Amino acid sequence: MCGIIGYTGTQDAVPILVGGLTSLEYRGYDSAGVALASDDGIKIVKSKGRIENLSKRLYDTGYHAPCGIGHTRWATHGEPSDKNAHPHSTENLSLVHNGIIENYDELQERLKSLGYTFVSETDTEAAVKLIDLYYRESGDPVKAMFSAAAEIRGSFAFGVVFEKAPDTIYAMRKDSPLIVAMSECGGLIASDIPAILPYTNNYFRLEEEVLAVLTKDSVSFVGKNGESLTQPEETVSWSVGEAQKSGYPHFMLKEIFEEPEAIRKTVTPRLVNGLPDFSMLDKDIGRIHIVACGTAMHAGLVGKTMIERLARLPVNVEIASEFRYRDPILDKKDLVVLLSQSGETADTLAALRHSKACGVKTLAIVNVIGSSVAREADHVIYTMAGPEIAVASTKAYSVQCAIVSLLAIRLAFDCGKLDESEAKRLTALLINEVPAAVATVLKKSEEIGKIAKNYTEGAEHLFYIGRGADSDLCTEASLKLKEISYIHSEAYAAGELKHGTISLVTEGVPVVALLTEHKLAEKMISGIREVKSRGAHTLAIATERIKDEFTVPCDDMIVVPKIDPLFEMFPAITVLQLFAYHASATRGLDVDKPRNLAKSVTVE
Ligand code: F6R
Repeated sequence: MCGIIGYTGTQDAVPILVGGLTSLEYRGYDSAGVALASDDGIKIVKSKGRIENLSKRLYDTGYHAPCGIGHTRWATHGEPSDKNAHPHSTENLSLVHNGIIENYDELQERLKSLGYTFVSETDTEAAVKLIDLYYRESGDPVKAMFSAAAEIRGSFAFGVVFEKAPDTIYAMRKDSPLIVAMSECGGLIASDIPAILPYTNNYFRLEEEVLAVLTKDSVSFVGKNGESLTQPEETVSWSVGEAQKSGYPHFMLKEIFEEPEAIRKTVTPRLVNGLPDFSMLDKDIGRIHIVACGTAMHAGLVGKTMIERLARLPVNVEIASEFRYRDPILDKKDLVVLLSQSGETADTLAALRHSKACGVKTLAIVNVIGSSVAREADHVIYTMAGPEIAVASTKAYSVQCAIVSLLAIRLAFDCGKLDESEAKRLTALLINEVPAAVATVLKKSEEIGKIAKNYTEGAEHLFYIGRGADSDLCTEASLKLKEISYIHSEAYAAGELKHGTISLVTEGVPVVALLTEHKLAEKMISGIREVKSRGAHTLAIATERIKDEFTVPCDDMIVVPKIDPLFEMFPAITVLQLFAYHASATRGLDVDKPRNLAKSVTVE
């Protein structure tokens, strides 16, 4: 959500800023802009819409500079427009901002009374003018930024250039991600790793209440009393190639194809003697609460099913944005599990902080190493999906489902519901059979594409129905289809449809029925008959076992390979993701960057 890039060095900042913004496009944006700083002053170029618009404007100006900051804005306060795009400036400085200044109207009133005028509808303008106010007083960028930060409520990552120090970038953050790096060609700041990868694999994750000062050959860190600080340098293990499409038409397709490897890489490091290792957790856990947003929350539903099924322990799954405000009942022995791909989702982070404030132990299951959720939780387990660039989460969901399944096996073993050999057998299946079954499904991508086209071309609504774990999968399938194909869809527990919603099922309405739950196959078949007799166009996604044993009354069927029934949901997940992918791609939509969405939702 919003992207920040900054560069100061020996090269022309223009292509570096444009390239950096392009690599951050996946975060979601609706306007972009840069500030270029040199001895000739600071020059601003902004544009509503895509980075190509900005880039054209920028190259038309012929501007070049050795230092600059750039921004992709995802509108929160004020419409997407040139005027509201960042950077925002005064005659002394220019600033890019990610986050939300919650007390901006209060600050604005005060600044107006001091003679400042406001030209945009953004919250950010209050920040730039507040820094300006303190800069006028002290003439010191560091003091000015700390003084302003102390008065700002909300979240921010700031990149700032000052007119009088045109070769220097100042950066600080609170509750919004920002990294800092030193490369051979100069210093960089960025919202996320892909933007720095062409220049270096080493970076600093900027701490809160620390200000980074970057010049072409140094980066220094300063505390709020002016003291100089050291920060640990980290190294990214992935390469530029991994953050690129590698010949796939879209990141989303590439990322779905990475699932078998991602599952293996996630599960393998968690094994000790063939058993899942979660030794960091207390043995005597009360209730388990899984808290997350969107797709990650849907992986939580799979976790609930798995843990309740295998370990017979009750699990509560909650949307983080609700959890944080509804005063949840938490006991000291409870465990709150936070699931997050980015580890920066504002609501998930707030839920984590709330849980800790209640004295409850927290476990973060996160994909991005060193992210805020990972750092603040009592315990962290990393999923090893690698960079996920497409806005729609796929491989991260699959690995989250794998890790919560592994947790379920361990909990079941610990409480005596699974003996050692059965726990080891299930664990081995998760690293071997599951990725293999997913790989088999990937070979059917083209076939799934044809079926997806047939079911979604011209469709305005679509239903997903399933029972048991399939009903959990339907919620995710429906979200995936909605977010990237813009087809309205609903996920329904198949038995619930007849309690009202079946009135929407009329001639030709597509219904995708999921059948991986063998013991519920007959019930599902009745559900399919119900919708079919109302004229629905029915696609079944069924296991080989169900196809062989039952007559499924559907128009089309996609068969998922036979593995242990507990895990047959995994290849089905991949089918559903490919279905959504092809539905969007055949409509010619921007699969990787769906409208209005951001990859990492760092504001409430
Ligand atoms: C949908 C999607 C979102 C995220 C949600 C949480 O495809 O990606 O629903 O799952 O915004 O994000 P993380 O997992 O980064 O906390």
